[in-house]
Amino acid sequence: MSFEVTSGYFQFDDIIDKLPAVYHAFALSTLGLVERLVETSKLSNSTLVDICAGTGRCALNLASTARHVYAVELQRRPSLFACEQMKAENIDNVTYLRADTNALPLSSGSVDHAVGMWGAVDTGEAERVVRPGGRVFLGGCAPGNVIGELSPIVGSLYGISKDSPMAELFFAG
Ligand SMILES: C[S@@+](CC[C@H](N)C(=O)[O-])C[C@H]1O[C@@H](n2cnc3c(N)ncnc32)[C@H](O)[C@@H]1O
Repeated sequence: MSFEVTSGYFQFDDIIDKLPAVYHAFALSTLGLVERLVETSKLSNSTLVDICAGTGRCALNLASTARHVYAVELQRRPSLFACEQMKAENIDNVTYLRADTNALPLSSGSVDHAVGMWGAVDTGEAERVVRPGGRVFLGGCAPGNVIGELSPIVGSLYGISKDSPMAELFFAG
C-alpha cells in the first residue's frame, strides 16, 4: 500500500501528521458541516464510511447518530490521536482503518453512505463501497471560495498558477 498523501487543502495533511492535537483544535469547520449533514440526511442507524478521516472530527461526531462508522485515514498519527479521543469519550462504534482513499478496504456495496470532509476523496471508490441507493456526501469549500474574494490574490502570493490542481480553488469563477 502507498503511504503517499493525496494533496488536499493547503498544508493540512502535513500539519495533521506532525501536530494532530493542534489540527484538531482548529478543525472546527467540520463540526458545522457534520451538524448540517445530520440535520438534512437520514443517517440514523446507518453504516457509514468517513474517508480521509483525520483526527476524527467527522467520524466521532457521526458516531452518535450512525450505527457504525468506518474511518479511513492514511496517516498514523492522526489515527492514533482519534483512537485516544474515542477511548476518552467511550465511543465504541467507530473503526479506524489505515488505508488509502484510492483503495478502500471495504467490500463493494457494504456501507449505506460515504462521507468525506475537507479531504481529497476518490469519489469512484466511495461510490463503489456504497450500497445501491446510498449517497456520497462531500463537505468542504465551494470551488474558488476558500477565502472568498481574496482567493486569487492569496493564490498568486503562493505562486499557484491556473494550471495547478489547486487552481480551481483559487481561480474558479
Ligand atoms: C484536511 S484533513 C481532513 C480531516 C477530517 N476529515 C476533518 O474534517 O477534520 C485531510 C486528511 O486526509 C488524509 N489523507 C490524505 N491523503 C489520503 C489518502 N490518499 N488516503 C486517505 N487519507 C488521506 C490526511 O492524512 C488528512 O488527515
